[in-house]
Amino acid sequence: MGKLKALDKNLNLADKRIILRVDLNVPILEGKVTDKSRINKVTPVIKEFIKKKAKVIIISHLGRPKGKINKKLSLKPIAPILENLLNSKVYFCNESYGPTAIEKSNEIKSGEVLLLENVRFNKEEETNEGNFAKVLSKTGDIYVNEAFSCSHRAHASVCEITKHIDSYAGKLLSEEVNVINMLTDNAKKPVSCIIGGSKISTKIGILGNLVKKMQTIVIVGAMANNFIKHKGHNIGKSLFEKNQEDLLKDIIKKCEANNCKLVIPEDVIVAKSFESEAELKPLNKIDDTDIILDIGKNTINEIYKTIDESKTILWNGPAGYFEIEKFSAGSNKIAKKITENTKSKSLTSIAGGGDTVAAINKFSCSDGFTYISTAGGAFLELLEGKILPGIKVLEIK
Ligand code: 3PG
Ligand code: MG
Repeated sequence: MGKLKALDKNLNLADKRIILRVDLNVPILEGKVTDKSRINKVTPVIKEFIKKKAKVIIISHLGRPKGKINKKLSLKPIAPILENLLNSKVYFCNESYGPTAIEKSNEIKSGEVLLLENVRFNKEEETNEGNFAKVLSKTGDIYVNEAFSCSHRAHASVCEITKHIDSYAGKLLSEEVNVINMLTDNAKKPVSCIIGGSKISTKIGILGNLVKKMQTIVIVGAMANNFIKHKGHNIGKSLFEKNQEDLLKDIIKKCEANNCKLVIPEDVIVAKSFESEAELKPLNKIDDTDIILDIGKNTINEIYKTIDESKTILWNGPAGYFEIEKFSAGSNKIAKKITENTKSKSLTSIAGGGDTVAAINKFSCSDGFTYISTAGGAFLELLEGKILPGIKVLEIK
C-alpha cells in the first residue's frame, strides 16, 4: 500500500472551507443516540480545524436510506450534540449538496461548523456519480477523509469527490490504517475471531477470506441463525438472511480445507417478543414463535475456551440484542473475558464495529482491549489485506 496524502501541519487554513467526511453513523434508539463513540472520536479533529480558523463542512451518512429522504435517518439530531462537544456554533443544512449547501458553506464564519444532511438521501452517493460529487465538492476548498469506517465503500463522498477537490487522508484515518496493517503483519497465533451482528451478507462474504488466517471462527448474533437453520433446526421468527445457502456451504467447506474450527451457537436465549420473558433453549427446542435474541450458557463456555486458547482475537459484532438487559449476557461476557485475558494473559485483542464498540462501552470494557476500531466492514476488509477504494484514492501517486 502506498503512503497516504496528509495535510501539511503548517498550512494556513484560516477562512478555508474544509470538507470533512466523517462517520456519524451512530446507533439511535427512539430518537436518542445510544453511543457517541464515533462522534467523540472525531471531535478533537474538528476542534483542531476550528482552532486554525477554518470553516468546517461536515459530510456524513446515517443508516441505509437507499437514495431516498427518510426523516428517521436525518443527521439533524447530531448537530446539537456536536455543538455541545465542540463549544462552537454548528449549523445544520437540510440539504446534503446543491446551491443552498454551497451558499451556507460560504456564509458561516471562520471557526464555525456546518453539518450537511445525510448524504445517502441521494442515490448518486452510492453510485459514486461524477456530477453529484462535483457539486458536493463545491461546498469546500479542501477535502479531508476522516471516515475510515466508510472507506470500503466506493461512494461519491468518499471516492469520486477526490477527483474534484484537493483531497487528503485525515489523521485518524491514517492512524487506523497503520494500526490494522501492523496487526495483520505481526499477529501472534492462534488467531481467532468472533463475528456477529446483523449485517449478515456483508460479513458472510468476509468470512470466506478470514478462514485462511484464523485458527477458529466463532459465529454469533443474527448471522448465526443462518448457520443454525442450515444445520436443520427451526429458528422460529428469528432474523436471518434468505438465499445464503451456497455461501454457507462454501464457508463450511473452506473451514474444513483450511483447518479452521467453526464454532456456532449450541444453545440460545429466545423470547416471543422483546417485551416477553427470555428463555434458555437448546437448538432442538426452538419453536415457531420463538425469536433468537442471544447466545446461551454452553455457547458462552465454548467461547471462553476459544478466548483462552488464543494469542490474538478479533471481535466484530455483538452476540445478541445487548441493548436490552435480558439479551445482553452473551456480549457482556465476551467483552469481560477478552478484557480479563488481555490484562492478565497478554492476549492481543482487537475489536471493531459500531455496535461492538457500543457494547464494549456499555459493559465498561473500553480499556480492556489492545485496539478498538470504530469501523465495521472497512476494519474487516483491511484486515484481509483488501484494497479499500476510499483509501486508494488518497494514496500518493
Ligand atoms: C458502518 O457503520 O459500518 C459504516 O458507517 C458504513 O456503513 P455501511 O455499512 O452502511 O456502508
Ligand atoms: Mg458496516
